[in-house]
Amino acid sequence: MKIAIGSDHGGFLLKERTRKLVEQMGHQVHDAGCYSTDSVDYPVQGRKVAELVASGAYERGILICGTGIGMSMVANRTPGIRATLCHELFTARMSREHNDSNILCMGERVIGPGIAEEVVRIWLSTSFAGGRHRRRLDMLEEIKCST
Ligand code: RB5
Repeated sequence: MKIAIGSDHGGFLLKERTRKLVEQMGHQVHDAGCYSTDSVDYPVQGRKVAELVASGAYERGILICGTGIGMSMVANRTPGIRATLCHELFTARMSREHNDSNILCMGERVIGPGIAEEVVRIWLSTSFAGGRHRRRLDMLEEIKCST
């Protein structure tokens, strides 16, 4: 898969680990920054990754900040994005099966590197279940269009 990844300074170290992991898994990764632990504003990198995924240029995105909260707020403002904040394995799996999540958000200050790796592995390998969940996602898109 083509995957866009980004972080702010609070998520930089976990972003670096995650980028290497995702590349090792055989995916093609675009790193939208940031590129050091110097302070930046998370809406910049969050918006870049959200737009890359919404445009169809990248199939999925991964966004990491200190808590994952800011990144999920930013990403979900982009039509077509279903960003989910996942810090454990069950949520990571369900976010794919039921919600067809296309951006995974995590907080480096919340989750350890071992659980983060498992979250990423599960999130990347779990398929959308479709069926009644497709109908609910269609309803979600209608809400976005009417606001
Ligand atoms: C940066 O200090 C921190 O606010 C940011 O990484 C993130 O946690 C925001 O939601």
